[in-house]
Amino acid sequence: MDPALYSEGNPHEVWRAMREAGPVHHQVARTGAEHWAVVGHTVGKQVLHDWKTFTSTRGALLRADDNAAPYPGAGKMPVLTDPPRHTDMRRAVARMFTPRAVEGLGALAHEVARSLLADLRARGGGDFATEVAARFPIAVQAEILGIPVEDIPLILDATRRSVDDPEHDSFGHHDVMTYFLGALGTTRGAAGRDLIGTLLAARADGLPLSDEEIVLTCDNIVVAASQTVQHAVNGGLLALIEHPAAWAELREGRVDTGAVVDELLRWTSPATHVMRTAVHDTELAGTTIRAGDAVAVWIASANRDATVFDRPGELLPARSPNPHLSLGGGMHFCLGAALVRVLMRALLTELTRSGMSLSLAGPPVWHSTWAVNGMRSLPVEVSPV
Ligand code: HEM
Repeated sequence: MDPALYSEGNPHEVWRAMREAGPVHHQVARTGAEHWAVVGHTVGKQVLHDWKTFTSTRGALLRADDNAAPYPGAGKMPVLTDPPRHTDMRRAVARMFTPRAVEGLGALAHEVARSLLADLRARGGGDFATEVAARFPIAVQAEILGIPVEDIPLILDATRRSVDDPEHDSFGHHDVMTYFLGALGTTRGAAGRDLIGTLLAARADGLPLSDEEIVLTCDNIVVAASQTVQHAVNGGLLALIEHPAAWAELREGRVDTGAVVDELLRWTSPATHVMRTAVHDTELAGTTIRAGDAVAVWIASANRDATVFDRPGELLPARSPNPHLSLGGGMHFCLGAALVRVLMRALLTELTRSGMSLSLAGPPVWHSTWAVNGMRSLPVEVSPV
């Protein structure tokens, strides 16, 4: 829970030492906030699947101050809701993100990736994080999310603030919700097929969603849609730069791009952790957890658990099976999972087709937060392969 560990230090060393000592550890932050850190894969998966014991309604991310305080938005957006309400809320938007629905975005994803990479090449390099990775996912998804092109910078800025500043994240969320509240006012009556239109047409338990639920669900989806893929893409590029043999395998078509996507998701673990709260006393791997205790599944640690992954500290492009938890597990399993794969496959394919090689032009700058594992800046230079 020290933000500097993620920007200046190496959290993987900390997690490895913790895993060696056991899968569950009690943690107290400098602020006094407490949680149980689950660092092993098997126990992590158990927590994610047992929603009856571990609720999402008290928050899904660790907070700087008090993890037990009531959570704004609880029970009103999919990620902070338990069944049966969760089932209805998720169903309300799920059809927008099925593999078939998002397949249609593939051509656009290739086009956007090609154009962003061509611009980077024309400049001889630049900041891959801000000039390519941040712009790519939102440009592909803007239309289905109902965000006009001219509003993309505003949404990108607000969603970035909602994740990269754990102590003031509510300001970023506030701006995203204010934006969609405005959109709700102008859309009602002329609802289309975009996110707001879908939510306006949705029914949960036979009734329309409230305006509050609609706006909170927009926040849930738009923050997830714009702020996660870029970290997988940046971390993925850095991994390929640091593992030239893996990059060569990909470029020469010796490995399935889908397998590479999953290995890069495991390797980068963009969602560092997810949080749950115990609803009754229980036990995890022999450790007693009391009702009301916060429990964090450290996904990035579970993804390098040697009891599940062969040579977990190595990037193996063709790794199979690859049961990483990067997209979560259980009923809150990432709604955008199919889209993540479409986006990452398109970018990797265009990168390999572009005939350019990227190398570091300066040190990457990592976000200082325990919420996402990602970079603010990734300076690269371009050279022909
Ligand atoms: C590499 C990119 C992504 C990663 C690593 C990621 C990761 C995750 C994780 C770990 C969860 C589980 C949260 C929990 O259990 O509390 C989740 C849920 C979710 N994700 Fe993603 N995500 C990504 C991209 C996306 C995209 C592009 C969308 C766009 C639709 C999206 C939408 C959601 C939503 C709506 C949920 C909540 C689902 C529910 O509660 O039923 N995610 N994601």
